[in-house]
Amino acid sequence: QAPAEVKVSKIPSACDERPMAEVALQTPPTSAVSKPRGALNGKHDIPRPHKRAALQHDPAVNGKRQHEGRRNPQTSIPVHLLKKRDELLVSRRTLPIWPHAQSIRDALRKTNILVLTGETGSGKSTQVPQFLLDESWCTKAIAVTQPRRVAAISLARRVAEEMGSFFGGQSPAAKVGYSVRFDNASGPNTKIKFLTEGMLLQEMLRDPDMNQYSAVIVDEVHERSVNVDLILGFLKNLASGVERTGKKRRTPLKIVVMSATADVEGLVQFFGQDQDQSAVPPAEEGLLKANSLISICFVEGRQYPVRTTYLPEASMDWVESALKLIFQIHYKEPLPGDVLVFLTGQDKIESLQKLVNDYAEGMDKDVPRLLVLPLFAALSQPAQQLIFQPTPHRARKVILATNIAETSVTVPGVRFVIDCGKSKIKQFRSKLGLESLLAKPISKSAAIQRRGRAGREGPGQCYRLYTEADYKTFEERTIPEILRCDLMQALLTMKARGVNNVLGFPFLDRPPRDALEKALFQLLRLGALEKIGAISDIGLKIAKLPVTPTLGRILIEAAKPERDCLLDVIDIIAALSTEDNIFFNIVSEERKEEAEAARHELYRREGDHMTFLATVQRYAEENSDRKAWCERHFVSHRAMQNIMNIRKQLRQQCQSLKLLNSAEATTTSTTPNVDAILACLLRGFVSNTARLMPDNSYRTFIGNYTVSIHPSSVMHGRKVKAEAIVFSEFLYTNKAYAKKVSAVQMNWVEDVVKEVWNV
Ligand code: CDP
Repeated sequence: QAPAEVKVSKIPSACDERPMAEVALQTPPTSAVSKPRGALNGKHDIPRPHKRAALQHDPAVNGKRQHEGRRNPQTSIPVHLLKKRDELLVSRRTLPIWPHAQSIRDALRKTNILVLTGETGSGKSTQVPQFLLDESWCTKAIAVTQPRRVAAISLARRVAEEMGSFFGGQSPAAKVGYSVRFDNASGPNTKIKFLTEGMLLQEMLRDPDMNQYSAVIVDEVHERSVNVDLILGFLKNLASGVERTGKKRRTPLKIVVMSATADVEGLVQFFGQDQDQSAVPPAEEGLLKANSLISICFVEGRQYPVRTTYLPEASMDWVESALKLIFQIHYKEPLPGDVLVFLTGQDKIESLQKLVNDYAEGMDKDVPRLLVLPLFAALSQPAQQLIFQPTPHRARKVILATNIAETSVTVPGVRFVIDCGKSKIKQFRSKLGLESLLAKPISKSAAIQRRGRAGREGPGQCYRLYTEADYKTFEERTIPEILRCDLMQALLTMKARGVNNVLGFPFLDRPPRDALEKALFQLLRLGALEKIGAISDIGLKIAKLPVTPTLGRILIEAAKPERDCLLDVIDIIAALSTEDNIFFNIVSEERKEEAEAARHELYRREGDHMTFLATVQRYAEENSDRKAWCERHFVSHRAMQNIMNIRKQLRQQCQSLKLLNSAEATTTSTTPNVDAILACLLRGFVSNTARLMPDNSYRTFIGNYTVSIHPSSVMHGRKVKAEAIVFSEFLYTNKAYAKKVSAVQMNWVEDVVKEVWNV
């Protein structure tokens, strides 16, 4: 289909057609105000955990606070909040996006769609929603999506501070809130709501026309998560009038698509195709014309030059190369100047952290201190906040991060970047039907982003732990997730939103037809779709649960009267849904033995899932000191707190879907029915099953691949091996591992395989 012609109105003062990376890295800033370190970064002064901050800020939650401190008599907002707001205004005014405020407002008065590009840190996420708040069309809330929880929460707090507003909760004065999976801090009065992409998709299912919003801002589009691609497709359908499901909107939804490195042309083309003018209600004369226009805005970055150094030859051990470089920088380069190291994941970060700390102990007293701080998505909020604190006097911060620091989170004070050139990406191994995280070379555009982090506050230096020849082999752009992930969840979301012909959905990048068909088939096997392809009642319920379709199917199975084990299954799924390890890794050999002995009473013969259940239930029964209980059993208290929170929310969700009645939702569990629980797990994880072979290895029922039981499993290394296993996680490193494993009977697996094969 030939794309329709798109009229593009450019915002005059804001145009610069050179690619951002080029502008960013070649043009030393002329307008940048030289500033003391950290002066622009107000957030870094407040390293409080977000939860506590919310409670302290919100008078609805903490009534006592309401009477504390002086208040502005007109607004009843405490004076200290207003003072902070005024202080922050000074730095907000110096952000590169500030001069574009009026152009952005004008663009959205004229058109409904704005594509906005600007370097990380130019002020897109924090300022654009505030620019739009007082527009006459903005009578409802503004949604701002983020790919990561950490960014959604910290942005909400920052914007609340900038507005001198309370934050989160139900208070009438709390204008800014957030909503992330299993944690909603927004209320009916929230005007700016930061949400993860997944949460916006959930809201889109409940409110297809997005009647609660005047605008949706889709941020960090360049990351091209599956969820962002779905959101863009739905928004395009909404804007072009293809999808008209619920109550019609009286005013058009304003859509802002923001990105650090977007393919602007692609986005404009995408939104420009099939624009249906008749979709605009006739009463909106003025908008009729505007609807055919898409605005574009380029914000110039504030970027100093960055020198790039490559390794002369490929390194076999880049953790060691990073270690050497950190100390080389520390001994040679003057302070201030923090170091940001990009690594692949938590394991590498923790091992480098230990190495740097060990070596730093041997430094002479007169050498400045090294402060090593990790940054990855699963890290606790208070620990993440540490990176925003100003570096102490005579010290150098070394931040060890995953690609979370590439664009999502701005780390202040960085002058040196060390880039390992790899990141962990989700990869769907379609032959196996399983998804796994693999460390792969990054793209050129990601490498440029990483380098750019060194030049935010002054000229910088980037060390690439690969050769220039390697760099030349990198892909230009990161392959969008939708082209390399399991599409089951995405397709179920589409079906639930009434998209019957998923093959005809407007994808920014269309996944291969066979990948779509395979995912449809998997949904059919789960019973989420009818044979004719329409969503089933089970599918509708699964789509409304905040878990993957597989886990959702397990919950539904557990609620059946003949299984009757929903509460126990909720506990297991809560344990599978937390990012922290319940049984954390212990490095020292002595402590390892001690931990094994202490944990032994929680371990269950049937495998990891029943072990998780026993742990959750023992923890929940503990009435006195839960933290001490965790310490005694070498169990992560943080993980358990998290699990209890998820458990509570899953119980509520199951109640609202009528899978659980209110009396059941508050009862405590009795002795678990192990067979029923394992049967439910099997119903969902039917593709993750394997049988014991004569040579003592396990081979998957589907695909016939060899998998080994991961050393972290309680089933690892058993003398008497189970005849068949079901596992809920798959890991591929040097070989294929089944993680989180339970023993099952062969005939059970055969029965389920037969049942689903018959569909
Ligand atoms: O979205 P973009 O990357 O363009 O910028 P932003 O996130 O709006 O950040 C603008 C500035 O606000 C940054 O330079 C940070 O100094 C500050 N900021 C902050 O202090 N706390 C946050 N959570 C986010 C931003």
